[in-house]
Amino acid sequence: MTADDKQDESLLDREARFWDEQEEAIEDLYAKPHDWRFIPEIADFVIKPKVKALLRIISERRAEVNSILDIGCGNGWFCHSCADGGIKAYGVDISPKKVEAAKIAAEERGVGQLCHFMASDIMELELPEKVDMITAHGSLHHLPDLEDKLPILIDRFLKPDGLMLFVEPHHEGMSPGIQKIVYGCASSKLMGNWFDKEHYLRVRGEDGGSVPEAAASESEIEIPVGSESFNLRSESPAGLEFLGEEPDMGAIVQRDYDLIEEKYFHYMSGHLTNAFYTYMKPAWVRALWRLFLPFTIWLDDRLCRKQKYNQYAEEGLWLLKRRS
Ligand SMILES: C[S@@+](CC[C@H](N)C(=O)[O-])C[C@H]1O[C@@H](n2cnc3c(N)ncnc32)[C@H](O)[C@@H]1O
Repeated sequence: MTADDKQDESLLDREARFWDEQEEAIEDLYAKPHDWRFIPEIADFVIKPKVKALLRIISERRAEVNSILDIGCGNGWFCHSCADGGIKAYGVDISPKKVEAAKIAAEERGVGQLCHFMASDIMELELPEKVDMITAHGSLHHLPDLEDKLPILIDRFLKPDGLMLFVEPHHEGMSPGIQKIVYGCASSKLMGNWFDKEHYLRVRGEDGGSVPEAAASESEIEIPVGSESFNLRSESPAGLEFLGEEPDMGAIVQRDYDLIEEKYFHYMSGHLTNAFYTYMKPAWVRALWRLFLPFTIWLDDRLCRKQKYNQYAEEGLWLLKRRS
């Protein structure tokens, strides 16, 4: 084993522990959310255009796609959706706790027969067959040495004429325009009073330790694991390493493969929902934003079709095939 392999091994161990801990703490994270993704009734709404695009692609390609492998399947939601349409779905995740949750949910949804979940590092996985499509939703950027490993995974698990469908982070942070709106509102006297600054600063680790213990314990989910403690509100260990390099995920996934379709999501809907819902104290302000949300999402979806805006979109979707 080389020194690099050793480093990867401990990074993968930490990665698995992070996601196990996150799954165990999921109810606490939902109870005091730090991001719109942890407010299920809001998240379901915000991700609608993305889920719609994913399911449209699957149904348009249904004749070619009878089996998928979902890398880093998490709680298995995408495998479950594919299985709803009669597709055999293999899901692999490095976190045994996520896999357990995925299996339980598959049984509850009545798709247990078509879903096969495995707890493993994707690089160690063995599958009984090659699949028609490899998918990943927010998980490729957790794989160390992705650029080298992706072609290996594709050769190992995808049929020669198979497809790849990936959704991954695209741009970190707000566009200058959205930043202006959010910071302008947050610094106005009125909105400033409504904004839960303490929670915001704590989540960003910028509170300087000044938050009283009792308040901190109710919202700061930090669980010590062995000698290391993870901030479960932050990126995972492997994700932090990867995103720290500010990679261009679109370029990485297209390096060896041909693009069939590309789409972008969340130029503003996520950031504005965090500003005007997640971190807003008065219930009536949140209710107002909730009313406004469908329009924001509709507009966001349209803006994300233009390069001027989608260069700042939080996520990108890429449908690819092998180079002919
Ligand atoms: C951001 S989550 C996305 C989960 C899921 N795809 C979803 O959409 O909810 C990333 C997932 O990748 C998994 N993961 C990270 N590294 C992995 C690896 N080397 N092999 C398999 N899964 C991995 C994590 O356990 C985690 O569940």
